[in-house]
Amino acid sequence: MCIMELNKWLAMRTGAYDWSHVHAYAKGLQCTSDQEDLNKEEHLKTCIKRVLKIDLQKANITDPEVLEQADCIVTSGLLEAVCQNQNDYIKYFQCITEYLKPQGLLILVGYLKSSYYKVGEDRYHAFTYDECFLRQNLANGGFKIHSWEVLDSKMQSDVTDYKHVVVVTAIKECRVSNLT
Ligand SMILES: C[S@@+](CC[C@H](N)C(=O)[O-])C[C@H]1O[C@@H](n2cnc3c(N)ncnc32)[C@H](O)[C@@H]1O
Repeated sequence: MCIMELNKWLAMRTGAYDWSHVHAYAKGLQCTSDQEDLNKEEHLKTCIKRVLKIDLQKANITDPEVLEQADCIVTSGLLEAVCQNQNDYIKYFQCITEYLKPQGLLILVGYLKSSYYKVGEDRYHAFTYDECFLRQNLANGGFKIHSWEVLDSKMQSDVTDYKHVVVVTAIKECRVSNLT
């Protein structure tokens, strides 16, 4: 997520990214009225206390701010972009989930079997993993899977080559093992 774009959206500045297609989709799923839908976006904005930059390679990922543990963490398309290999994934997954309270909810969106993604014309490496690796990593990290959904890619461009999207919700129970 681009910090500058997020701040533009929060401040409702000109040129802020238009999320109306997402609203329309969510509205369809939840059968909410136009007014309820509008209020949801405003409510979401009021829930955001701070926008912080994170760097998973730092000992304190939000240095100089120190975060408390949270009830819920959402991570989407991050680990595959940052990690080079399985060891990185295991390490950075732990970095993120340390900030989740025991019994807290993890919402993870992952892109399976991708090898690259592009930003403009620049091409970046993506860590390739499958469902089996992800399940094992969650179990080793002490997570109990609550829901697991896999959707096939509908990509029709060369921006990335992932084969499936996985949407997982999982509860942090306890750490079992750091090894895969
Ligand atoms: C494919 S993008 C996913 C963006 C975001 N999760 C979203 O759904 O919009 C990968 C993200 O990883 C971030 N990133 C790269 N290296 C990082 C690091 N060491 N620590 C934290 N984030 C990093 C990039 O800034 C980029 O926003």
